Amino acid sequence: MTTPPEPLTDHGLFDAVVNLCKRRGFVFPSAEIYGGIRSTYDYGPLGAQMLRNVREAWWRAMIQERDDVVPIDAAILTNPKVWEASGHLATFTDPLVDCRNCKERWRADQIDGACPNCGSTDLTEARPFNLMFKTFVGPVEEDASVAYLRPETAQGMFVNFLNVVTSMRRKPPFGIAQIGRAFRNEITPGNFVFRTREFEMMEMEFFVPPADSPRWLQYWCEERLAWYQRYGIASEKLRLRPHDTEELSHYSSGTTDVEFLFPWGWGELEGIANRTDYDLSAHEEHSGTTLEYFDQATGERYVPHVVEPAAGATRTMMAFLLAAYDEDEIGGERRTVLRLHPRIAPYQVAVLPLSKKEALTPLARDVLHRLQRYLMCEYDETQSIGRRYRRQDEIGTPYCVTVDFESLVDEQVTVRERDSTEQTRLPIDDVVHHLLERLDL
Ligand code: GAP
Repeated sequence: MTTPPEPLTDHGLFDAVVNLCKRRGFVFPSAEIYGGIRSTYDYGPLGAQMLRNVREAWWRAMIQERDDVVPIDAAILTNPKVWEASGHLATFTDPLVDCRNCKERWRADQIDGACPNCGSTDLTEARPFNLMFKTFVGPVEEDASVAYLRPETAQGMFVNFLNVVTSMRRKPPFGIAQIGRAFRNEITPGNFVFRTREFEMMEMEFFVPPADSPRWLQYWCEERLAWYQRYGIASEKLRLRPHDTEELSHYSSGTTDVEFLFPWGWGELEGIANRTDYDLSAHEEHSGTTLEYFDQATGERYVPHVVEPAAGATRTMMAFLLAAYDEDEIGGERRTVLRLHPRIAPYQVAVLPLSKKEALTPLARDVLHRLQRYLMCEYDETQSIGRRYRRQDEIGTPYCVTVDFESLVDEQVTVRERDSTEQTRLPIDDVVHHLLERLDL
């Protein structure tokens, strides 16, 4: 487990990142031309690409590089009995209080007995507020057609447990993983995309023989912590924090959070929970379908226990941005640089013809097309080369490939590395290979 440094409060960093996100097309307030809608965001061209990279990095580690996890993609709207069985209808609540003075609403567990807006202590009694968004399926708005937007993707894995075991011939230990949107009617969304009402989750349910769950919980805590480090977050900004008993979700016998040192202090990136047989047993009871696993080798029959690493993709993207943001000085000039991991950065490479002159365009475009087959590229031929490098630094592009007049003669280009600003002259034929090799360094 990592030893945590004291939390820093760095509002300068937070503001700089939020500002950069808007200015450079990562994240926009949703429906801004209509005045937005509180704490709801749209992902712009660079944000959409970066979010996709976060998903892919997770998919690579959790599915592609393993032989014991398979993916699914379940429906967002499902039978409401799922939420009855899972306990979400009864217990997925936050304690809500109203300030009688300014009428703001707060989560009682997030404030200290006084309204953070006006300071009044004249608050109502806390009452449970269910976080699930309700809607109606079909044209008639009646009780029989009520449905809910999923507040977690996990239940899609539990209700498909049998289908996956049968169709994929799986036996515990094995996992089912899924990435997708989830919705929670949060009382106090905020801190940019840290807490929003619509967000994206990356969850995996790992089904194990009951006695093995403590060992797998430990295993997944280590794996998941290492994943954030692999994609560029320094270890001193990460820690594992086990939950106290009173903090545990209704389904968990033990949870450890992966936390990141946000500008306002430590905050959760991911919860790794031992959900025991809570969900499969509940679905057995409510659906009347047996969800046991029968081990033919031992003759044993059991309901598997589940260890669940559950991460937020949108929140993780924000952590990657905060961890990567830096300002330094190059040749006496200040620059802003996002030191994003090459697989997380929106573009892996920018192709920059030294001049807009027509003579360079065909070769520069040829280089672009070669690279585009493997990498996300930007092509930029406006402004001075220095300014174009600065722009790529600011959006985190790890490599720039510059095509100059000499390239027409020697068939070589200059590859500039973002962090060191080091430049290397390389034959055009070697550039793809050179860059692909560096993606995971
Ligand atoms: N199935 C387990 C589960 O839902 P959770 O701790 O409630 O666990 C998992 O959510 C992760 O989803 C969190 O660690 C966080 O990264 C992300 N998350 C949860 N609520 C969020 C919200 N309102 N906005 C953005 N991300 C959220």
